[in-house]
Amino acid sequence: MTGNIVSGYKKLLEKTKNIVALNSATAILHWDMETKMPPRGIKLRSLQLAMLRRIGHQMSTDHQIGLLLEEIMKHPEYGSMDTVQKRNLYLIKKHYDEQTKLPEELVVETSKQEAITIDTWKKAKAAKNFAKFKPELEKLFKLKKKEAEILMEVKETATPYDAMIDIYEPKMTTEATNKIFKELREGLLALLRKCETAPKQPNPSILKRPLATETQRKIGNLLADFIGYDTTSTTSGGRIDETEHPFTTGYYDDVRITTHYYPKMFASSIFSTLHEGGHAIYEQNLKQEWMFQPVGEASSMGIHESQSRFVENIVGRSHEFWTYFLPKLKMLTGNMLYDVELNDFVHAINMVTPSKIRIEADEVTYGLHIIIRFTLERDLFAEKVTIDELPQVWNEKYLEYLAVTVENDSEGMMQDTHWASGYFGYFPAYALGNIYSGQLVAKLDEDIVDWKEQITGGNFRAIKEWMIKNVHSRGNLYNPSDLIKIITGKELSVDPYLSYLNNKYSRLYGF
Ligand code: CO
Repeated sequence: MTGNIVSGYKKLLEKTKNIVALNSATAILHWDMETKMPPRGIKLRSLQLAMLRRIGHQMSTDHQIGLLLEEIMKHPEYGSMDTVQKRNLYLIKKHYDEQTKLPEELVVETSKQEAITIDTWKKAKAAKNFAKFKPELEKLFKLKKKEAEILMEVKETATPYDAMIDIYEPKMTTEATNKIFKELREGLLALLRKCETAPKQPNPSILKRPLATETQRKIGNLLADFIGYDTTSTTSGGRIDETEHPFTTGYYDDVRITTHYYPKMFASSIFSTLHEGGHAIYEQNLKQEWMFQPVGEASSMGIHESQSRFVENIVGRSHEFWTYFLPKLKMLTGNMLYDVELNDFVHAINMVTPSKIRIEADEVTYGLHIIIRFTLERDLFAEKVTIDELPQVWNEKYLEYLAVTVENDSEGMMQDTHWASGYFGYFPAYALGNIYSGQLVAKLDEDIVDWKEQITGGNFRAIKEWMIKNVHSRGNLYNPSDLIKIITGKELSVDPYLSYLNNKYSRLYGF
């Protein structure tokens, strides 16, 4: 490559690095808003966030980026650039083209409205009052619809909603999601019936025994240790804080997770710590030399979720893991679990029961919660459903899919923060993540035949190394569906996930 194209590429990466640095500052302000900020700080915080968003948008639409991109991509030596360089250029161009099409005023107004809508959602949820939430959500949805229509043209998607999905799951479409979710839904409903009618049923009461927050915190640290997520040493790159809704933020050397501690639901913090820990080790094990480059980011939210669900469910709720960890849990909790048998404990933490709340759902019903949300979003953007009708349609779907009656909108359509935060198009990634995790495990079975025995022995290292090699260290080198194909050699398929569930639950429930 001649000096010209090299220096142009370097200049582009320098600009990207600055944008990444700014975005990470925004992420820390968000983290602070959720974990530490006093209630009255909200006004100042939304001003700060909107300002950073404005600066970020200006940096992302810098005319120089467009000129540099053109210069490089038309250069006679462009063809000799390597895969990583070309992927970086593709991602920079994608981001630049999209951002330049979005008017600055729309970006800033959306950011301000998001802060207001989240704040209103919290209050409306506490008051079980959808009427209070509705006008703000309508305002936000109008802005997001405008964004979706603009992005649809740049991304060349079939519908505005496809453009929203593409933000979180690049190149995934409504059509493909419809198809795979139909298969998922049928598989899950069939399995749910089998569990419900099985003779062997779990006893969940052992999970309601009270446990002090301090002890739960110690358990959380041990779990983080097990997966190699260091939150306690002097050189740690992580930390655990408390929020009602657990989340993960940051990448590489500063990745933070949150969890919650309920004295009468100790398992809840165990599984949210494992879940967020799965997200965290993905972010920490992206390829070091790609830091600050677009290729040095996670592939998609769906791939992210495949990692968190793998750690939380496939490992964390397995018989093998608890063979290793139950004696430790018993020791930490004094005599609280002295009379609990391993098999009974494992069945209890895997109890299948239709419920109203997504984040408390078991593996079998979880996907159904997601499919409901996907259907509603899809119809909302297609103008088949209005914001006003959301609660009613939501409740009807819950009755139809899960046979549960939603009593109020706080346990209904107001339960999640996503729509209040403007994250339309995000939900499908959760179920796709489960589907990906099934495909990954099918490959892991072939590559490390004794991986389950390793877990029984308390050894997660080789499994983690496998994930690092195949998933984490590849960062954003590929779109999610290509990544899955490269790792497993197979197209997107729901079969491995459904067979994982069938094997596991037939053994637990004895059918
Ligand atoms: Co997650």
